Amino acid sequence: MAARLIFLGAPGSGKGTQASRLAGRLSIPQISTGDMLREARANGTELGKRAAFYMDKGDLVPDDVVIGIIRERLQQDDCQHGFILDGFPRTLPQAQALDLMLTDMGLPLSHVIFIDVPDEEIIPRITGRRTCPNCGRSYHISFLPPKVPGRCDECGSDLVQRSDDTEDAVRIRLSKYREQTAPLVEFYENKGLLKRVHGVGDIEEIQKKILEIVA
Ligand code: AP5
Repeated sequence: MAARLIFLGAPGSGKGTQASRLAGRLSIPQISTGDMLREARANGTELGKRAAFYMDKGDLVPDDVVIGIIRERLQQDDCQHGFILDGFPRTLPQAQALDLMLTDMGLPLSHVIFIDVPDEEIIPRITGRRTCPNCGRSYHISFLPPKVPGRCDECGSDLVQRSDDTEDAVRIRLSKYREQTAPLVEFYENKGLLKRVHGVGDIEEIQKKILEIVA
């Protein structure tokens, strides 16, 4: 059966790191609302400008905006054989809208992978993250360093720090997560879809645990 997955977890829990590896292995798209909003922003679109206003403060972008983006994306051909949603849904209205969409499309979810990481791990992970503005690959200055400091292993571009990866913005992102996203753990638990993965430790070991779930 096609894998149709959600990766749920706090900012910095490793959703993007794990989702991109798994998407590569399973040859299905990784659909990250954060990446899509950052791309819109880099392209200077109206959507990108609107999103930047919320993102830089650590606030969530309004539901109607992200639901619209996901509705369009899931209709593309490459999603018919499976997908990984990374960072969506993040609120109850988003989860309910997704339910309706997937029911209409006849594409039921396989699992919701909840990557569970304690708060004290989050700040050092996020403030040490560096990303490649060209190919999107993500690193950590201590936990996953590039071969040459400041340079992407993949394409050689200079790595950058995300504008919302400051300590102040991370604290706001964490509190938004607690208020608005954490209730989705229970929402998906009640549907019998939630799989909890302890997200501290070696990145490859965590990937193995996720592979066992989706196998
Ligand atoms: P988004 O881009 O989705 O950010 P996030 O959810 O805050 O998650 P992150 O990307 O910060 O973390 P991650 O869990 O992917 O961790 P990663 O693998 O990179 O969203 C950004 C903003 O966009 C939001 O704040 C909001 O404004 C807006 N937005 C997006 N979606 C939205 C939605 N649905 N609704 C409304 N607004 C939305 O790992 C982090 C670091 O840790 C990396 O450096 C990595 O190398 C390292 N790392 C990973 N795993 C490990 C490990 N096991 N051990 C040590 N280090 C590790």
